[in-house]
Amino acid sequence: MGRSINGRALDTELSGIRQISNLIPEYPGAINLTVGQPDTPVPEGVKAAGERAIRGDLTGYSHNAGLPELRKIASAYYGGKYRFEYDPYTETVVTAGASGAMDAVLRTLLEPGDEVIIPVPIFAGYEPLIKLAGAKPVYLDTRPTGFVPDVEQLESLITEKTKIVIFNNPSNPTGVMIPQDQMDSLAEMLARHPVFILSDDIYSENTYGVSHTSFGKYPALRDRLFLIHGLSKSHSMTGWRIGFLFGPADIMNYVVRIHAYNTICAPTPSQHAAIEALGGSATAPDKMNEINLERRSIVLDALHRMQLPTVKPNGAFYAFPSIQEFPLISKDFALRMLAEAGVAVVHGSAFTDYGEGYIRISYARPKAEVRLAMERMSEFVEQLRRNR
Ligand SMILES: Cc1ncc(COP(=O)(O)O)c(C=O)c1O
Repeated sequence: MGRSINGRALDTELSGIRQISNLIPEYPGAINLTVGQPDTPVPEGVKAAGERAIRGDLTGYSHNAGLPELRKIASAYYGGKYRFEYDPYTETVVTAGASGAMDAVLRTLLEPGDEVIIPVPIFAGYEPLIKLAGAKPVYLDTRPTGFVPDVEQLESLITEKTKIVIFNNPSNPTGVMIPQDQMDSLAEMLARHPVFILSDDIYSENTYGVSHTSFGKYPALRDRLFLIHGLSKSHSMTGWRIGFLFGPADIMNYVVRIHAYNTICAPTPSQHAAIEALGGSATAPDKMNEINLERRSIVLDALHRMQLPTVKPNGAFYAFPSIQEFPLISKDFALRMLAEAGVAVVHGSAFTDYGEGYIRISYARPKAEVRLAMERMSEFVEQLRRNR
């Protein structure tokens, strides 16, 4: 046997986001618009609750599915806001971030040979998990439809092998949210097909003027729907590792076992802090959104002046402009913009091959920085055009 490892692990690549962000220290003064996390601090009440848990020795293992009190508040908070009902004891699991939820569901459901439909371009986290399970990603190209999954196109991809359809709403990397009427049509179509639905709604609290519609509000989907929420993006709690998974009791019964053998439980001090995040600090995302809205305007206005086609994002904190006019692949565009203009963004191809020809700008940075980055980018783009 020698030292050979699992072939699927061998084929797993490092995230493209890190490929750029790891280079930033080599360019002093570069502005970092690669980050997938808010820059606003964790709410004071949340910090205090975490501190109290540590000082009070509330740091042992919790129930595998999470502290019952946290499950109750999470089920009530998200369920009340997005119009769904999941039992806190049998249908709610606290996971180590949204990533932990994705992993547990996919490993519970997938068998080798299964197909999983993903609307692309999309967050790079799903593809490797699907492939590690021996399943096959099937790509729904959303580029022609403004990054919103098209109902007929999606239906045409569903075969007897299709096990799961994944959604990420609002989307990373495009920031686009599926409109309410499109959600109605998608739900109506999906109700006619025996597939599981996994909706990663980690950015549901990061929205601008349009509220998020959840697949959870459609009763016809309930027995095969899994919903992911979490505190990474809504409360800047990326390192605290708190996610929430909601799903039907008969299957969650198995999901919690997979989750348990992976992490035993989400970090307990973070779970205590999470009770405060969804209680006393529940309005923290509103303040964050107010700040990010101004930043989004700076970015969209600048991209408009640069004449780079961009679909207006109404969620998350990303813009995803097209750079197809330039004879450069997106990775070279990003590397050159970092080296020549001191602005770091993520190449679109980090979000599956369907992101080629785009770049992702994360604008969760101070306004002055965002403004300066856009000025630099504008000069860079002008220079590219001049040298054509
Ligand atoms: C769409 C999406 N899902 C999941 C995650 C991971 O979230 P967490 O840090 O809660 O695991 C991210 C992080 O960028 C994301 O963008």
